Amino acid sequence: MNQPDSAAPLVHDSTQPLLDIQDLHVRFNTPEGEVHAVNGMNFSIAPGEVMAIVGESGSGKTQTALAIMGLLAENGRASGRVVYQGSNLLEMDRRQLNSIRGSDIAMIFQDPGASLNPYLTIGRQMTEVLVRHRRMSQSEANARACEMLHQVRLTDAEDRMRQYPYELSGGMQQRIMIAMGLLCRPRLLIADEPTTALDVTVQADINQLMMDLRRQYDTAILLITHDLGVVAGLADTVTVVYAGQMMEYAPVRDLYYRPCHPYSRGLVRSVPRLDQRADQVLRAIPGNPPNLLDMPSGCPFRDRCEFAFSDCTAYPLMRHSRANSLVRCHLDSLPE
Ligand SMILES: Nc1ncnc2c1ncn2[C@@H]1O[C@H](COP(=O)(O)OP(=O)(O)OP(=O)(O)O)[C@@H](O)[C@H]1O
Ligand code: SF4
Ligand SMILES: [Mg+2]
Repeated sequence: MNQPDSAAPLVHDSTQPLLDIQDLHVRFNTPEGEVHAVNGMNFSIAPGEVMAIVGESGSGKTQTALAIMGLLAENGRASGRVVYQGSNLLEMDRRQLNSIRGSDIAMIFQDPGASLNPYLTIGRQMTEVLVRHRRMSQSEANARACEMLHQVRLTDAEDRMRQYPYELSGGMQQRIMIAMGLLCRPRLLIADEPTTALDVTVQADINQLMMDLRRQYDTAILLITHDLGVVAGLADTVTVVYAGQMMEYAPVRDLYYRPCHPYSRGLVRSVPRLDQRADQVLRAIPGNPPNLLDMPSGCPFRDRCEFAFSDCTAYPLMRHSRANSLVRCHLDSLPE
């Protein structure tokens, strides 16, 4: 569960969080100045929970994930705390982080083609992690990799193991990324736009696959997407981010049917629905996000908000909107 800015942390029902992010900031040094990409994220994920992070392009979703994994670009710096089972990942050295990455926490990226090594066969890439992280023999690792390829519903698994990435379609490559991500039975899978590069029917199939695997292994998933439509059937909870800040956190149904933040409502209303007539125009949110090199004071959404009023020149703290929901907005309730 996410935490309000000013109160004691909330804990998921009776369960201890698996991952607890506290006041996470990511800054990049650039010739133009310091880019404030992530600005004080606070959230936690319980074992087996699927939490989606939703926001427009450039809102800091990927950099949040990369900061958790210790994979920021050279010019990036993360501060705050990323607590995994009692230890702050931001304070770990490379060796400690490597043993957690790929083993306890795995990440799958938007573009499988860029994440797979073009010079190694699928089998070699899949088994390497098992031999290294799980100390399996090569034949044990081959058997596990083959089994995992079956699980992600790839046919001819033995043949696939001998193939190179370029011999496979985008959908097959993404299945392989998921299989690789789940090989070590991680407790947390971070999936960054896992289906964006794929066509719609393959997308639905891959999403279903992730949910089946989640049920089977009880893996928690941090699902990153700019498409609120995708999370409807997948996530338990949703965090809406804007300019690297959390705007709202809520169980998925509440966010869809009773959003409390003007930005969340704009996102919800821009999702195409099956019952929508073709002549109903989607409401995109007019305007652009703030310049991350020069963040404005007050509410970051102010320039685009149709309800902005005098209080909005002060920065809104995250507060409870309902028992299990949080919002960063000065409005007591969202006008119709
Ligand atoms: N190495 C870098 N140097 C400077 N700025 C960077 C760097 N990497 C990312 N950024 C900036 O950080 C901000 C957040 O980027 P991020 O990749 O997290 O966006 P995102 O929400 O994942 O967007 P998308 O939906 O397009 O993937 C962007 O403004 C981006 O330009
Ligand atoms: S704080 Fe003000 S500007 Fe920001 S979202 Fe709420 S009403 Fe709009
Ligand atoms: Mg991204």
